[in-house]
Amino acid sequence: MLKLNPGLLALPLAAWAALIGCRANENVPKWPVPAEARERPNPVAASPDSLSAGAKLYREHCAICHGVSGDGKSAWAETLPEPPADLTDPAHMKRMTDGEIFWKISTGRDLMPPFAERLREEERWQVVNYLRTLARPHLVALRNVTRETANLVVRDGLDAVYLDQVESQRSLRHSGWSGRAIPIAGTATGAALSGEFGAKVAADAVESGVTAVACRIPIDHAPAAAVSVIGPTFRLRGSILQHVRTEVESAARRIAEDLHRAAEHGPY
Ligand code: HEC
Repeated sequence: MLKLNPGLLALPLAAWAALIGCRANENVPKWPVPAEARERPNPVAASPDSLSAGAKLYREHCAICHGVSGDGKSAWAETLPEPPADLTDPAHMKRMTDGEIFWKISTGRDLMPPFAERLREEERWQVVNYLRTLARPHLVALRNVTRETANLVVRDGLDAVYLDQVESQRSLRHSGWSGRAIPIAGTATGAALSGEFGAKVAADAVESGVTAVACRIPIDHAPAAAVSVIGPTFRLRGSILQHVRTEVESAARRIAEDLHRAAEHGPY
């Protein structure tokens, strides 16, 4: 029979949160937002261009505190009694409107700097769109399960444009491709973007010693998009490579499901 250990019940809230892998966000004082700011509609469409501009702005201005992937895990956040909220948590992001996120970015509070004077209005909306990217939580999950860098890519002519990249946390990792356009010829991403659903693998195609595993996101409308994992060839071999292929395919399927749902009911 399952018995409750009374010692466990005495654990402080923070320890419980650490055990189950979430943070005690309830401790963060509520951040009230004026009603008209909450209701303000987002005037900037989430096009590939605006998302990749938003991704770049995020890396330059926000990643230092909120973490490269937005999950609040940064060296800076570790010095705080309470790290900023996890901006990759769909449940948390669902509670905030675009207008509310825009307002928080513009006005700031305490340690969160105000960006009203540092970023143009359009740029702040681009960052909001980026934070809303439906694929981000999936990229973070894919990075966590494969421990390699995960990417979201769209096709633009003969190039693959890297919309978003969630970096591996290992010391030897692939990084810095977000916002970049890479010719697709001969690459795993190229094969994924132009072929049938299923993981495509290429070793040493773009850089020697680097292997990419990519899969098309099964959605009908253009532009073609893919999800990929990139890492050192010596780590992406044998059964690990097989595992990564499966994970990349299931991430591509989950992103497609979210996109279908969003097309019917709006994001989140
Ligand atoms: C110097 C560190 C720092 C930088 C840089 C920074 N933030 Fe923050 N951010 C914080 C902290 C700390 C909080 C929590 C503030 C609070 O609740 O009082 C926060 C809160 C937020 C929130 C509100 C989350 C919530 O749950 O209410 C959003 C959204 C946000 N930041 C987005 C951004 C974006 C986008 C950028 C870049 C344009 C950015 N931040 C740059 C530290 C930072």
